[in-house]
Amino acid sequence: MKNIVLTLAFTGFIFANELPEEFDRDLYNQGEKVFENKCMECHQKSMPIPLLMKNFIEENNQTLNLKAPTGNEISFRLKQQIGSRDDVEFHLMQTTAFVKDYIINPDKAKTICLEGVIRHFNTMPSMKGKINDTQIEEVSHFLYFLEGFNGVNEFYFDETKF
Ligand code: HEC
Repeated sequence: MKNIVLTLAFTGFIFANELPEEFDRDLYNQGEKVFENKCMECHQKSMPIPLLMKNFIEENNQTLNLKAPTGNEISFRLKQQIGSRDDVEFHLMQTTAFVKDYIINPDKAKTICLEGVIRHFNTMPSMKGKINDTQIEEVSHFLYFLEGFNGVNEFYFDETKF
């Protein structure tokens, strides 16, 4: 009996780290290309969070001199600030709606980022006319899964570091 309980507990642990069925590798890869082509002029893809925090909070963005929050910061805050992770399918719709709205109608008043981060930037320029709906769907999928799930990319995942 004890063994069965242990086995079940262990299986639960493994499943918790598995990618949700909503993860779509092709969509993610397409989204990554969109990010590289249309966003990386300003947004870095991923940087270690302790480094970012030191840069923004202690060093006034003087060390990294970033033009915008990084993709992984956005990925983390999207999932943390909008809706709930309990239902990934719905959560993806909610976070996609946010990204869609933000990149067409940016306004720092809607920010999901930390005050200590966002204060270093002016509002993002609108991308209206520069990106189509398919590309927005793709880049939103990419941003959702960029940070916080193991096995998606080479970036390490440790939420306690945020
Ligand atoms: C010309 C520079 C530039 C480009 C290109 C750009 N951004 Fe941004 N973006 C910014 C800046 C600066 C901020 C921080 C200020 C803000 O939030 O408006 C930002 C913030 C954001 C935020 C967070 C909003 C918040 O404050 O919570 C999202 C989401 C975002 N960008 C998505 C994208 C995506 C997706 C693309 C590519 C399709 C993109 N951006 C292209 C400059 C840019």
